Amino acid sequence: MQKASETSNSSRNLYKYDQVSRYIMDLIDQGTLKPGDRAPSLRKLSKSLKVSIATVNQAYLTLEEKGVLKARPQSGFYVHADLNREIATPKPIISTCQPRKVRFGELFEEIFAISNDPHIAPFAAARPSMELMPAKALMRETRSVIARHALESMDYCFPPGHDKLRQQIALRYTDLGLNVPPEEIIITNGATEGLSLALQTVAKRGDIIAVESPTYFSVLRLIEKMGMLALEIDSDPQTGISLDALEFALDTMDITAMLLVPNFNNPAGSLMPSAHKREVVRLLGERGIPLIEDDVYGDLYFGDERPDICKCYDEQGLVLSSSSFSKTLAPGFRMGWVTGGRFHDRLLEWKQATSSASPSLQQLAVAEFLRSGQYDRHLARLRKAFRAQVEKARFMIARLFPEGTRISDPQGGFVLWIELPRGTNCFELYNEALQQGIGITPGMLFSATRKFRNYIRINCGFPWSEENERALEKLAEIAKRLAV
Ligand SMILES: Cc1ncc(COP(=O)(O)O)c(C=O)c1O
Repeated sequence: MQKASETSNSSRNLYKYDQVSRYIMDLIDQGTLKPGDRAPSLRKLSKSLKVSIATVNQAYLTLEEKGVLKARPQSGFYVHADLNREIATPKPIISTCQPRKVRFGELFEEIFAISNDPHIAPFAAARPSMELMPAKALMRETRSVIARHALESMDYCFPPGHDKLRQQIALRYTDLGLNVPPEEIIITNGATEGLSLALQTVAKRGDIIAVESPTYFSVLRLIEKMGMLALEIDSDPQTGISLDALEFALDTMDITAMLLVPNFNNPAGSLMPSAHKREVVRLLGERGIPLIEDDVYGDLYFGDERPDICKCYDEQGLVLSSSSFSKTLAPGFRMGWVTGGRFHDRLLEWKQATSSASPSLQQLAVAEFLRSGQYDRHLARLRKAFRAQVEKARFMIARLFPEGTRISDPQGGFVLWIELPRGTNCFELYNEALQQGIGITPGMLFSATRKFRNYIRINCGFPWSEENERALEKLAEIAKRLAV
């Protein structure tokens, strides 16, 4: 049996070597170390990071195994020269532009079901790991709310929601140079309810809703359930919706509304440049068409600055903007919001009619968490973690998956969009992986036309464990088999 001291020693060593790997990955991400550069020597790094040479060596060997570093005899470790070249991003998709009825089968329900199963490797749903969430601090705030406002936290909090939380959200908009008064913000049960209310407010059965392609499957599901039609507009894997394709669609079709995820779209990870956001708002504004924007990943940027949102360019009140704390704080709290511009009153009626209220305790706890500054400190750590997790997954996939695989290069969020060699049937890949206890989302769920047959989406919202690395290796083996 292992002694207690041995156990704590070995876990401490594991922690240190992981820290060293991360340190090197950060240097590569920031461009301090470039492909072909020599990594710091074992001796030098062990001295500067105050860890043993064996720990640094172990970290370097792991990075070599992942294809990040390459050992050269008598010379040390080098950043793999092909690092950037090896990882190609998915090709832009050119699709036919016809509005479609959306029809989802059982696959949609199955993805939700497997995502609730702790025995299945967590690559399916786009969910952040609870290990990364500030559970203790948030629970401390929650307990304090219960102690101080017991009755209020159990009572109804009718729409538009608690003023303390709406005030905090309004303050966050000022970081983007936006003035959205608290009275224009409606608290919702997650962003899903915000999007659902927005769609119900601006469109009805039979109307055409323009969306980017690929698009988040729950958006397509909402369109399906409301009897509307989805018009998929071509999108670039890096910059999002094609402005030319959008203009053509607007000129030739009777579009009622548009729904976009401009920042780190799910699944492609694309980020619309500010100029594109401005142009989309202008194109729609000219025609009086409302834009529903979903910004759930906006706070999870990897660069230095938070990207702006389409609402920043909205002069006519035609943009309805929704977001939530589901990807950043506590998905189970179901705390989201929507601000509806000129549609505010109708949005409020829909909220009152369909869900009456949102949970009071959670609103108060999140408001306090934001007010105290803890949320921003947590976000800074979370962004770093997601960036490292996504980077690591890209390196592993590039090394393990069949030749010809293309991987998205998101600048925020925590999902990867993977294009497998043509002819690979990702539904088969999904089924075979599931039999081995691995969850993924097959690409066809992200389109009403069931395209993206050779694509999958991988969730990277969790710190990589040995178990999940093994699951990814198994997935790669199946993908290789199906690719031939
Ligand atoms: C783009 C996008 N919007 C909305 C949601 C759902 O957000 P919420 O859990 O706040 O309803 C998700 C979750 O995957 C998402 O990826």
